[in-house]
Amino acid sequence: MKPGIKEMKIYTYPDPVLKTQAGPVKVIDEELQDLIDDMIHVMYSAPGVGLAANQVGVLKRVIVFDRHPREKGRDPTVLINPEIVLGEDEIKSEEACLSVIDFSAEVVRSSRVKVQGLDRHGNSLDIEAEDLLAICLQHEIDHLDGTLFIDHISSLKRALYKKKLRKMLKET
Ligand code: NI
Repeated sequence: MKPGIKEMKIYTYPDPVLKTQAGPVKVIDEELQDLIDDMIHVMYSAPGVGLAANQVGVLKRVIVFDRHPREKGRDPTVLINPEIVLGEDEIKSEEACLSVIDFSAEVVRSSRVKVQGLDRHGNSLDIEAEDLLAICLQHEIDHLDGTLFIDHISSLKRALYKKKLRKMLKET
């Protein structure tokens, strides 16, 4: 049975699927198109600016993003097997994630990146991005490698978040 949109949920930390490296997409078939459509739907429903397949429990190297998920004229971009081929300069910004509930923190990343991948039809797609889009791309590609933004903060801050989360989970 194909997973329908209704069954798709966003996995949250500390689910192990978020700590697992996703494998490269080898075939672009109907199943993959369904996954992409479902991911776009989930991203807009959240709403979020980006989503990686790990976050819906699928270990395939696929990300979707849209800088303006709330606006009319939404324009989602799909990247299959994305790779950061260049990253330069630094930018520090507050990040959050649909998979890390009730938390945000400052993360340092490259302020300019060049990313290569494939679009949903298998054509090469190279993206040069800066600032917010560069941050989004690094954040989503991190997900495919089993890395969350909280892996980029100090171990003390991460420990405090884990404690807070344990408390929250106990209360629900
Ligand atoms: Ni995220």
